[in-house]
Amino acid sequence: MHDIEILELEEDELIKALSEYLKEKGVSNDVLNHTFTVLDSALRIANRMKLSDEQRKLIIAGAMLHDVGRSLSHGMDHAVLGAEILRKDGFDDRIIKIVERHIGAGLTAKEAKKFGLPERDYIPETLEEKLVALADNLVAGDRILRKEEYIRHIKQKFRDEKEVLDRHLALLNEFEEFVD
Ligand SMILES: [Fe+2]
Repeated sequence: MHDIEILELEEDELIKALSEYLKEKGVSNDVLNHTFTVLDSALRIANRMKLSDEQRKLIIAGAMLHDVGRSLSHGMDHAVLGAEILRKDGFDDRIIKIVERHIGAGLTAKEAKKFGLPERDYIPETLEEKLVALADNLVAGDRILRKEEYIRHIKQKFRDEKEVLDRHLALLNEFEEFVD
């Protein structure tokens, strides 16, 4: 599954190919369902933005693959493990980084250490990395939260972690006009 090959596929073929890939990697049906909701969430935002074909494909690939690491672990390490799987399988580094940096609104090196992850920053930097992280955050169970609902949710969830809350709000803020 090489990047050059997959980024040349049409969008619907890309989705199909990555769905097959996830099944080969042994992700559960629950993860697969979640993945498609996140893809939906990501495309809702992406469709409102002026993006290149390549950006759209990176977003689609990142959304489809963001939880591939859940075939090995449902812990905080699933993003790092997912990135490792993709690296071994020869994926484009831009896709790998989307996966590696999708936890919450990103993790600082200090937070990563606390969670037992290799101590480095996992903060989404590119538009594609940010968009997929946000699209995933907006999903609760099998539905996509509206902006107000999401803000209420994170204010409650991170009420004792101002820095983390601010990071989530800042990420939302970057895409605010493209989120319902
Ligand atoms: Fe995840």
